[in-house]
Amino acid sequence: MTGKIIGTGSYLPDRIVTNDELAGMMETSDEWIRSRTGIAERRIALDEGTTGMAVKAARRALESAGVEAEELDLILLATSTQDHLFPSGACEVQATLGAVNAAAYDISAACTGFIFGLASAQAFIRSGMYRTALIIGVDCLSKIMDWSDRGTCVLFGDGAGAAVVRAEDRGMIHAVMGSDGTKGPVLSCVARSEGNAFNGRTPELGYTQMDGQAVFKFAVKKVPECIHQLLDESSVDIDDIDYFVLHQANQRINESIAKRLKQPLEKVPMNIERYGNTSAATIPILLDELNRDGKFQPGDKIVLAGFGAGLTWGAALLEW
Ligand code: ACO
Repeated sequence: MTGKIIGTGSYLPDRIVTNDELAGMMETSDEWIRSRTGIAERRIALDEGTTGMAVKAARRALESAGVEAEELDLILLATSTQDHLFPSGACEVQATLGAVNAAAYDISAACTGFIFGLASAQAFIRSGMYRTALIIGVDCLSKIMDWSDRGTCVLFGDGAGAAVVRAEDRGMIHAVMGSDGTKGPVLSCVARSEGNAFNGRTPELGYTQMDGQAVFKFAVKKVPECIHQLLDESSVDIDDIDYFVLHQANQRINESIAKRLKQPLEKVPMNIERYGNTSAATIPILLDELNRDGKFQPGDKIVLAGFGAGLTWGAALLEW
């Protein structure tokens, strides 16, 4: 048995923030942001948090799969911006959906979280422990941005994507995951600084800090490497892949990955122009858009691949 994606869903907040609007708040420009990243606008959550967005994406995925919440054995929610340190976002989603038979927990692998979630669900399904899983990638990065730091805040947006995975004979072929904790400082956000009644310090909330060029160099090297590893271990030729659904962090990163893989850009769809980088949500949002647009045919081979804080990276090979 393997895990097959049988339904997808996504949700984006209504509020659009254009590059021009940001240029009215800080020293930046539409031209700078577009030419460096490919981003034109992003969505920002106003009156909803991470769990609220996750629930909306999850409901759409369940509806598209034709699966009732009670049928779920497992809910994995990948995020870096959970509304509460505990309970987990996954448990909050479980409660709202009424998924009374599911075990639920969060996955912390930043932008790679959805891939880690899929790979984990796959392992549970292969082992026979679970049959039906809901995997959600969601982030509300607007709440951990320093909105005066033009080097980071212009890149990110809020959103959620989800997929229902069920045990079938065909579906996910293989997945790979990797981590390098020594590179953690390259991209980080302190949850709450040390502070208690005994050390005299008041805890403070942190904001996202990033060495953009280091992340860029890491991504363009590591993502092609892990896609080659994925395909070598699956004995699948790269030219037989129909689509590469990559993490949407920067258009230039994805163009460079396509070039290194010697694959045409038509096989590397992007929506970063409209949403920016929604971290754990980029891959399932794009997957849902392509699915709803009818781009995938049964039997198509699709590679999902991402990278993010940790540093982490991962890829999954699907047969649609
Ligand atoms: N508007 C205008 N100027 C800016 C802005 C801005 N928003 N941000 C930075 N600048 C300036 C800098 O201050 C610098 O000015 P200086 O030369 O006078 O010092 C200049 O632009 C160039 O800055 P760089 O950082 O060198 O610009 P670079 O071409 O490297 O692009 C970017 C920066 C877009 C962040 C790029 O490095 C990148 O995309 N990196 C990857 C980021 C990424 O993928 N992050 C997320 C991955 S993981 C996850 O999703 C959590």
